Amino acid sequence: MKQDFPIFSRLVNGKPLVYLDNAATTQKPSCVIDAMSEFYSVSNANVHRAVHTLAGEATEGYEKCRKLLKQRYNAEYAVITSGTTEAINLVAHAWGKHNLSSGDVIVLTEMEHHSDIVPWQMLAETSAIEIRYVPVTDGKLDMDAFEVALEGAKLVCVVHTSNVLGVRNPVEDIITLSKAVGAKVLLDAAQAVPHELIDFRELGADFMAFSAHKMCGPTGIGALLISNDAFTEMEPFMGGGDMIDTVTLEGSTYQTNEHKFEAGTPRIAEGVGWAAALEWISNVDLESHHTRLLSIASDVAEQLRNRGMAVYSSLGPGDAAVVSFNHPTIHPEDFARLLDAQGVAVRTGHHCAQPLMDKLGVSGTIRASFYLYNDASDAEVFLSGVDRVLEAMA
Ligand SMILES: Cc1ncc(COP(=O)(O)O)c(C=O)c1O
Repeated sequence: MKQDFPIFSRLVNGKPLVYLDNAATTQKPSCVIDAMSEFYSVSNANVHRAVHTLAGEATEGYEKCRKLLKQRYNAEYAVITSGTTEAINLVAHAWGKHNLSSGDVIVLTEMEHHSDIVPWQMLAETSAIEIRYVPVTDGKLDMDAFEVALEGAKLVCVVHTSNVLGVRNPVEDIITLSKAVGAKVLLDAAQAVPHELIDFRELGADFMAFSAHKMCGPTGIGALLISNDAFTEMEPFMGGGDMIDTVTLEGSTYQTNEHKFEAGTPRIAEGVGWAAALEWISNVDLESHHTRLLSIASDVAEQLRNRGMAVYSSLGPGDAAVVSFNHPTIHPEDFARLLDAQGVAVRTGHHCAQPLMDKLGVSGTIRASFYLYNDASDAEVFLSGVDRVLEAMA
């Protein structure tokens, strides 16, 4: 599969690239790069606003992305955003502001990415809602505590798959329990959609946010899937062109479909690129790759433990192939720099999950995350790189 990805033909610090920073962003296959380049070379125009040929092609290319998203994830509505972060902020503004008031409860978890914490804290500052956090115990959500926290909740926002631990939360149970108390559910699926095909309608969540760039699509684009029920409770957040039906000096009326949440010129080339990525990934057997990658990541985790590292990822069935670890004394950044010198890219830091770092009792971790194009030889190079770091720092 690496042949589909031009980046793997380059050297990094004189060595073949071993890219294990996939939870941060994934590499792009040629078809995505070509589709975007072709759009700018051949069809570039603004969407929705003109009758000329280029405008028609641009509109078709952009709307194809939405069509593919709705088909792939079986969603009633797909609003195109700049990514997961904007999608969650959109829910806070377009749904939260109009459906939550003083004293209302929303439930988050200690393993949320900052993008699923900060928007709610900002909303709480202006509307005095109560935020309850479900604790993480031994790297997993405490489901007993979740049930207690649910009492009186109007909204539950949960990361489907953790970007730090790779753990897949029991989202089916979370949705069933939340629905039983009448709470709406938002899933942060940024790390889930790259690894599993989700049937949004079947799953029964109300909102699902994710980013194209974590599934081989372009940066700067993502989606918010919305159920029929939730869509009727949302009001536009940003005003401007494209989201209106009529405008007079006295007031405006809005579009009734997804466009009412997409004010202004959208990410057209990115939409074209994401459509190409969605078509490309529809030919990939995610399930078998997931099994393969999880097995590679589990072996890596064991090897790291054997070398004296603390590994925080449990890598159980269904979890993403993400290995977060630390050496007892070597600073994560020193570790990652020495790996980079050998062409191996890993991430270090708090991974935008400071509350989870606090819970783990660390300021950051080293994270090796595997994706479709990674194979056992990448794991070998990584582990021999680790050995070199250990020798150098001995
Ligand atoms: C679990 C999770 N949620 C949200 C985000 C934010 O995604 P984006 O920066 O693409 O908006 C990320 C990105 O790392 C993530 O891993």
